[in-house]
Amino acid sequence: MLCAAIVVAAGRGSRAGGALPKQYHSVGGQSVLRRTLAALCAHPGIAAVQVVFHPDDAALYEAACAGLAKLRPPVAGGADRQASVQAGLEALADLAPDIVLVHDAARPFVSQALIARAIAAGAEHGAAIPGLPVTDTVKSVDDAGLVSGTPDRAGLRAVQTPQAFSYDNLRAAHAAALAAGRMGLTDDAAVMESAGHNVQVFEGEAQNVKLTHPADLARADAALTPRLDDVRMGTGFDVHAFGPGDHVMLGGLAIPFSQGLDGHSDADVGLHALTDAILGALCDGDIGAHFPPSDPQWKGATSDRFLAFAAERVRARGGVIAHLDLTLICEAPKVGPHRDAIRACISEIVGLPVSRISVKATTTERLGFTGRREGIAAMASATIRLPEETLPEETETP
Ligand code: CTP
Ligand code: MG
Repeated sequence: MLCAAIVVAAGRGSRAGGALPKQYHSVGGQSVLRRTLAALCAHPGIAAVQVVFHPDDAALYEAACAGLAKLRPPVAGGADRQASVQAGLEALADLAPDIVLVHDAARPFVSQALIARAIAAGAEHGAAIPGLPVTDTVKSVDDAGLVSGTPDRAGLRAVQTPQAFSYDNLRAAHAAALAAGRMGLTDDAAVMESAGHNVQVFEGEAQNVKLTHPADLARADAALTPRLDDVRMGTGFDVHAFGPGDHVMLGGLAIPFSQGLDGHSDADVGLHALTDAILGALCDGDIGAHFPPSDPQWKGATSDRFLAFAAERVRARGGVIAHLDLTLICEAPKVGPHRDAIRACISEIVGLPVSRISVKATTTERLGFTGRREGIAAMASATIRLPEETLPEETETP
């Protein structure tokens, strides 16, 4: 049994407003049409997907369909949905599928299970549509808004797409409707009904809404955009001893000084503390675990790569760094005059605005090793936000 799908995407989306037709709006970072096409192309029961588009949207269409298999060259739609479906049916003539699914581009939430039900019901009944019981009471009204009737709710269904039909029967029914001047039918079941066919209703899906108004697009975008609600704070601490040299690296900045800092890498205590703070927030080990001092490849390494690595680990988890706070602890060199240059360095390394990066400095009142000018200490905190659903510890067994 050969099954093809038609996706009607030629409408102008006038009720949704906006600069682009609604099927090209981005929801959760992808266009509505791409999501719809990806769902249909992913189903193993569908051999080919025929898109009906508006030629004005050619460039938008190319961007939406890039890299998807099973797509046939798009064809231009007509003045209303019925005309657009008919164009899709004629474009499939050379393929001559047994079953055709007709689906609205504006329904990106269609599930694989619903597609499977549609194919099965279409094959069994020749004409089958997804429907849901109506929960509101429905009234018929006249032009003046006066109620003219209350149909029994138990006998009503709100219907959706994908609707599934015998290809030959749907094609013939559309041709007959056109010939008889029956235009403006809003779904394909109505075209089949007008040709005298029985249409079976199967179970639809509440999530399979047709994006129609601006609020629908906003809701879809919010539902598909991962919420970074998992807020975490990590801390880091590091110390390096003074040694021979003429500068110290602090927060990625070379500061001229009468001594240097000893260390395996460039001994940048500030960047090391920040790296550990971020790794701490991720529960992802520490700097030594990722860059072992025993490994010769990190000898003399500049520490910006350690911090950039930690920032990339946050991005790889779908998260963002919200804030970094670094405190440098030493009697000398004076950090204050370099504070903004250090913030700019860190900003560059982690790709975060300077407004989210704090650098502070303090002495220890000549107490302890920093007070005796034996070295520099740094402490840092990092606040990060991760998506809720990617917490690996929820699947780990301790
Ligand atoms: N459609 C189509 N050709 C048309 C009209 C509609 O292919 N001439 C498609 C739409 O692109 C949409 C589906 O049919 O995927 C359902 O139509 P609807 O939700 O009404 O979309 P629009 O017609 O684009 O929106 P509006 O009625 O608000 O202008
Ligand atoms: Mg419309």
